[in-house]
Amino acid sequence: MATLHYHGHSTFTLVTDDGTKVIIDPWFDENPVSDVKADEIEGADFILCTHGHFDHFADAIPLAKRTGATLVSTFEIVSFVQSQGVENAHPLHIGGGYNFPFGYVKMTPALHGGQVAGDDEGAFTTVPGGFWMELKGKTLYHAGDTALLTDMTLLKGTVDVALLPIGDNFTMGPVDAARAVDFIEPKVVIPIHYNTFDMIAQDPEVFRGMVGLKAAVEALQPGDTYEF
Ligand code: NI
Ligand code: MN
Repeated sequence: MATLHYHGHSTFTLVTDDGTKVIIDPWFDENPVSDVKADEIEGADFILCTHGHFDHFADAIPLAKRTGATLVSTFEIVSFVQSQGVENAHPLHIGGGYNFPFGYVKMTPALHGGQVAGDDEGAFTTVPGGFWMELKGKTLYHAGDTALLTDMTLLKGTVDVALLPIGDNFTMGPVDAARAVDFIEPKVVIPIHYNTFDMIAQDPEVFRGMVGLKAAVEALQPGDTYEF
């Protein structure tokens, strides 16, 4: 049994069944809806960053330094965090995966911006991604920030739980996210990247109606947990 703790926006703490703690897209302190501050995170084993925008990355470097967690992201983001003094990091890139002790993690394509917050010269600008993970037979897909991609059809039938942005404006909105559900055919969808601020306000019940019976929609509030 794995547990997902939702902190709002795209930020999760994933605890795998062996107790490994994996923080995904850490954005706590400036996240207006987060249920916790970064200092309240008591230890972490891994930190996964889909891309370098501040709302996915702002707390990654201090959290990695404080906890000693291994930061996993694209080669460019890992190079940047190493230049900032992060000791434990593992570079991946789109289409590649690696067997970590807690499971297999593969980076998936995302169509979005590549700026890395804190990299003032743009030397580490990268392509954004998502993560597909296999955790002891259960599969999880965090799409990151992305437009609808026909590449998502390649995930068809391989995802138990999909974390999909529905906020529109910067990412897929509900209509395209519902099409992504058609492409991926996950068992469960958890909508993310919405209701953090006005520009990405959405009603998850409208999204649930669009998905219909194709997948179970679990609309989590910050502080909620989901077990799978
Ligand atoms: Ni972004
Ligand atoms: Mn974002």
